[in-house]
Amino acid sequence: MTQNVEKVLISQEELAKITEKLGKQITEDYKDSKKPIICIVILKGSLLFAADLIRHIDLPLELEFMKVSSYGAGTKNSGEIKIHLDLMREHLEKYNLIIIEDIVDSGRTLARLTQLLKNRNANSVKTCTLLDKPSRREVDFVPDYCGRTIPDEFVIGYGLDYDEKYRNLPYVGVLKPEVYS
Ligand code: IMP
Ligand code: MG
Repeated sequence: MTQNVEKVLISQEELAKITEKLGKQITEDYKDSKKPIICIVILKGSLLFAADLIRHIDLPLELEFMKVSSYGAGTKNSGEIKIHLDLMREHLEKYNLIIIEDIVDSGRTLARLTQLLKNRNANSVKTCTLLDKPSRREVDFVPDYCGRTIPDEFVIGYGLDYDEKYRNLPYVGVLKPEVYS
């Protein structure tokens, strides 16, 4: 598996520091809010990130999952996002929602999800992404919390996949371009 990795972009140690920092920042920002948090984990890519992040959020918190897709086997965004698993919750006005995502690319997925959940009258909706590739943005979207800004390279590992593989790498790596070209 590692033979297809060109380089390690973010090591396990760095990932641990990033999740700790973000978790503490979220704790600080929400500590005076009277409403509990629902962390919405976007499957499947943000599973590992979310698991590490929520252990650093020292506040009442509930966990939910959504599954959306914008990518198939390729590395190019197909445009529209599709909701495969929706949030099975009512009375979102009682909660502060934090959407947890692995990576922001064109920005379409999180721009759409944020709007959708705001339309359901959540008390607040914020986004927390491990990675951001701002140079790839196609819509006006800025995440509220971001672990690391990265250049326009296709990354894998720590939950992120190429064609459903490499999610189990413990670090974030750059895939060798010959694997997908
Ligand atoms: P967006 O809607 O274009 O922002 O797409 C974000 C989604 O694209 C992420 O949740 C990932 O599933 C996928 N994605 C974007 N860039 C990468 C990458 O470098 N590696 C793996 N998945 C990626
Ligand atoms: Mg994803």
